[in-house]
Amino acid sequence: MKKKALILGIETSCDETAAAVLEESAGTIPNLLSNIVSSQEKIHKKFGGVVPELAARSHIEKIDLIVNAALKKSRRKLKDIDAIAVTSGPGLIVCLSVGLNFAKALAMTLKKPLIVVNHLEGHALSPKLITDLNYPYLLLLISGGHSQYLAVKKLGKYKRLGTTIDDAVGEAFDKTAKLLGIKFPGGPFIEKFAAKGNKNRFDLPKPIINRGGCNLSLAGLKTAVLKISKSIKNNQDKYDLAASFQKTIEEILVKKTRIAFDEFKKICRTKNNFFVIAGGVAANNNIRNKLEKLSFEEKFIPIFPPMNLCGDNAAMIAMVGLEKFKLKQFSKLNSPAKPRWQLDESAAFLKGAGVKL
Ligand code: KG4
Ligand code: ZN
Repeated sequence: MKKKALILGIETSCDETAAAVLEESAGTIPNLLSNIVSSQEKIHKKFGGVVPELAARSHIEKIDLIVNAALKKSRRKLKDIDAIAVTSGPGLIVCLSVGLNFAKALAMTLKKPLIVVNHLEGHALSPKLITDLNYPYLLLLISGGHSQYLAVKKLGKYKRLGTTIDDAVGEAFDKTAKLLGIKFPGGPFIEKFAAKGNKNRFDLPKPIINRGGCNLSLAGLKTAVLKISKSIKNNQDKYDLAASFQKTIEEILVKKTRIAFDEFKKICRTKNNFFVIAGGVAANNNIRNKLEKLSFEEKFIPIFPPMNLCGDNAAMIAMVGLEKFKLKQFSKLNSPAKPRWQLDESAAFLKGAGVKL
C-alpha cells in the first residue's frame, strides 16, 4: 500500500507560533493529527498592536517547543514526515524568517522537500480541512491585515475582485476596540459589547458603498468612531457605539458581497457556487449569520472554517502543503521571505490617498 503523505506545517507570520501535522487520507478530507497554536496576545496587549521585534523574539524562543509538541500529539516521528510546509509571506519579515529558517534547517537535515506557502492561501484553503470543496469558489478573506474578495480558480490561481483601499476589516474592529478602551486584539470584545447595545443609536458612514465595485474602504468609519468616542460617558454609550459599528460593518459586507457574487458569476462557471468566508473576522457570529442568509438568498453555498481554524494556525499551512506536495511543487532551500506576497500578483496596488476606483 502506498504511504500516505505526512506534512509538517509551520506558521510564524505574525503573532502566533504554530505547528501542525496533517496526513493524507483515502478520501478528500485529510486527517489533522495535531494543531498547536501558541498566541502572543499577552505580550502585545499593552502596546495596542503587534510589536515585530518582540513577536520575532518569542517565535525564536518557542518554535522548537511548538514543533515538538505537534509531533508528539500526532504520534508520528520526525523521520516519517514527507515534507515541511512553511509560511513564507505575507507578514512581518522578522517573524516569517524564524519559521522559514527553522523549516529550511529541518528540510536540509531530514533531506525532505521544503514547500513554501502563502499565508493567505492557507486561509483560502482552510475549509478543505473539514469539507469537500471543489474549485472554483469565491473567497472573502477578512483578517487583521487583509480584506479581499477573490475568485479561487485552482491551487495557486487567484483573481482578485475587490480589496480594501485603506484599513482591513479586522484592523477596523481592533482600532474601534482601542477607542473604547479594549486591549488588543479587540475584535472578539466588540462583538460582546455590541450584543448589549443599541445598534441604531449612531449613524456611521459607509465609505464607497455605492461605487468602486466590491472594493472596501473603512478609514472614514474609524474617523467617525473616533469623533463619537470622545463624548462617551458610560458603559452603555460604549455598547451602543460597538453595536452601531458592528451593524455598519455587516451592512457594508452584505452590499459588497452581493456585488462580488455577480462578478464571480461573470468569470467562473460552476454548478455549485461555493462562497468561503475565512480569516480571523470570520469568527464573528453576526457577520457569519448575515453572510449565510445572503448566500442562501443568492443561491451560493456559504462555507466557514470551524472557529478554531479561522485565526492563524499551521493546519491550514499544512493543507496547502499537502496539495502542493501531490503536485510536486517543491521550493528551493534559498527561497526568500516575501513580506508582501499577494495571492493575485497581477492585481494593481490599491491603497492610500489618490486611489482611483
Ligand atoms: O486571521 P487572523 O487571526 O490574523 C491575521 O492574519 O490578521 O485575524 C485576526 C483579526 C484581528 O483583527 C481580530 O480582532 C479579528 O481577526 N477577530 C475578530 C473576531 N475574532 C477575531 N473580529 C471581529 N469579531 C470577532 N469575533
Ligand atoms: Zn491570517
